[in-house]
Amino acid sequence: MRMYDVIAKKRNGELLTEEEIRFMVEGYVKGDIPDYQMSAMLMAVYLKGMSDEETAILTDAVAHSGDMVDLSRIEGIKVDKHSTGGVGDKTTLVVAPMVAACGVKVAKMSGRGLGHTGGTVDKMEAIPGMRTTLTEEEFFSVVNSTGLSVIGQSGNLAPADKKLYALRDVTATVDSIPLIAASIMSKKLAAGNDCILLDVKTGSGAFMKTLEDSITLAEKMVAIGEHSGKKTMALITNMDIPLGSLIGNSLEVIEAVETLQGKGPGDLTEVCLSLAAGMLFLAGKGSLEECREMAEKTIADGSALKKLAAMVEAQGGDPAVITDPSLFAKAPFEKEVKALKSGYITHMNTEQCGIASSLLGAGRITKESQIDYTAGIALKKKVGQQVEEGETIAVLYASKRDLFADAEHELLKAVTIGGQKPEEEPLIYARVTGAGVERLV
Ligand code: URA
Repeated sequence: MRMYDVIAKKRNGELLTEEEIRFMVEGYVKGDIPDYQMSAMLMAVYLKGMSDEETAILTDAVAHSGDMVDLSRIEGIKVDKHSTGGVGDKTTLVVAPMVAACGVKVAKMSGRGLGHTGGTVDKMEAIPGMRTTLTEEEFFSVVNSTGLSVIGQSGNLAPADKKLYALRDVTATVDSIPLIAASIMSKKLAAGNDCILLDVKTGSGAFMKTLEDSITLAEKMVAIGEHSGKKTMALITNMDIPLGSLIGNSLEVIEAVETLQGKGPGDLTEVCLSLAAGMLFLAGKGSLEECREMAEKTIADGSALKKLAAMVEAQGGDPAVITDPSLFAKAPFEKEVKALKSGYITHMNTEQCGIASSLLGAGRITKESQIDYTAGIALKKKVGQQVEEGETIAVLYASKRDLFADAEHELLKAVTIGGQKPEEEPLIYARVTGAGVERLV
């Protein structure tokens, strides 16, 4: 078989066979197929798409390019959660302890920040001493003893995805529905959980900017999960506004702790309760309503916060910062960003808010950038709120004063102020299961 012919077939809009898809994934990982041929293939897929069957085969081939984790040494049902990425999205740090406090195990591998989006592993590393690389033995032992563990992806989990993702990043082929579905689901299948709850973000801060594209992506991922014998559900959630009020690594851990203390922002609390209810439902703990009540109880009785502290301690972190988040190191400099005119905030371009946070040092501008865990943004006003000219809409935190100018410029560009109060946007748009799409608004 020649890669040239497989590329030409996809370029002409034809369906690829299982043999052809496995040939290209295996050949690419081994180094037999060069980047320039795979780049051409990725662009052909981007332009011509892939059928559900092709996407499922691609997912399976990418999943099997490395280790398939066997979680059978962890007792009980294991539930995974995956967010397609957003700004201010610290839900894993809230939801995993809630679910564990209800007796369902969470053995989760998370990612680092990507583009303008933050990553759970970077946030966890903001906790002094916290280890996100554990041996398999340590990982299993933390889950068995505390009920949960969140670590970085193991080195050999879906290595084909690592290579493909890096290539997509530089060939303008990231935002392709079949390629995103295969990328995410290959890692979920390789991670070995029984059930998968997908948080598919939609809006200006998400990879999928429209609701229809987000639903299509969710349908494809749910179909792949169910086809592979995993109970899978997706919630389509709003990422047209940053989630919560704090953006940046230690700031987001602080907000996650506040949410587990019952003092979190309303939007973050609501999304976390819905995600936790979905995970518990998949694990067979009851109806969605019953599961939501169980999740609410873990905040009210403090059991979820205790689970977070237990996991932090078991992974070498300092649990004192979870009990008292004021112990987190603070950025040496801060700057208030003032409204340029009076009116209502009608929109916040969430991708630009994420970029502003990265410019302060909270994200990576290049692959080699070091993260500043103290850097970030505290939003004082969000969409729908009234502001007066000169009123503070956000506070920027950084370790160098000269980072403020660009970040402030980016944040002000992100915020639109108009004369009319905008309609409130929903937080959760739809639920997608194997049975279909249930619109919630
Ligand atoms: N996250 C992933 O893991 N892969 C994608 O393609 C997009 C988001």
